[in-house]
Amino acid sequence: MSDLQTQMKQAVAIAAVEQVKDGMVLGLGSGSTAALMIEALGSKLSSGKLKNIVGVTTSFQGEVLASHLGIPLLSLSAVDRIDLAIDGADEVDPSFQLIKGGGACHVQEKLVAVLAQRFVVVVDSTKIVDTLNLDFQLPVEVLPTAWKQVQATLNDIGGTSKLRMAERKAGPVVTDQGNLVLDVTIEGGIKAPEQLEQQINNIPGVLENGLFVNLADEVLVGEIVDGVPGVRRLKKV
Ligand code: 5RP
Repeated sequence: MSDLQTQMKQAVAIAAVEQVKDGMVLGLGSGSTAALMIEALGSKLSSGKLKNIVGVTTSFQGEVLASHLGIPLLSLSAVDRIDLAIDGADEVDPSFQLIKGGGACHVQEKLVAVLAQRFVVVVDSTKIVDTLNLDFQLPVEVLPTAWKQVQATLNDIGGTSKLRMAERKAGPVVTDQGNLVLDVTIEGGIKAPEQLEQQINNIPGVLENGLFVNLADEVLVGEIVDGVPGVRRLKKV
């Protein structure tokens, strides 16, 4: 990641944490931008600028980081509401439809985003696209035993896919739930995200895909203008 990209992520992470109020139940996303947001939250909590917040994490990564920072946590099954969820994304289109799952955490991330009263997405300016999936492949979490069968069905509906392989471990990426990830490319990009989200989730053996449709309430974009990091609130088209 370039230094400029880190500065954009830092700026947007801090801006999102400004929306957190005392007493909130918070959905804590995953990935590098969400990690910066969790760190910003941790410092506001330890300095006493925020009180009585509870986090619901979306990954092992978030759980380790948030507990290290002393952020009180509850599991998803222990809460009946989430006031505000803040998470990153891999691509954002003009209608605020998202591809997520670059960190293979999209199953828990979608559960938290769906439960949240308000879902704020934090990205740097490289994530804004006109059409989803032209540059970033769509992650699909699958049961290990079903990956070949799901891959064949994805192929039938026009998606070429690759099993995501691990780095510094032999074999595939294994998700926090113990499953595998197929990264899918649809020729020409995704034109109808809502329909494709349903279609892929209907394939037996699929746990969840990384299309987040009609979930984002606000998208904050970190950018560098005249060498200075800042944050823009994206306008929905
Ligand atoms: C993880 C995600 C992340 O939010 C997404 O990959 C963006 O990550 P980063 O902030 O590191 O660019 O969906 O599953």
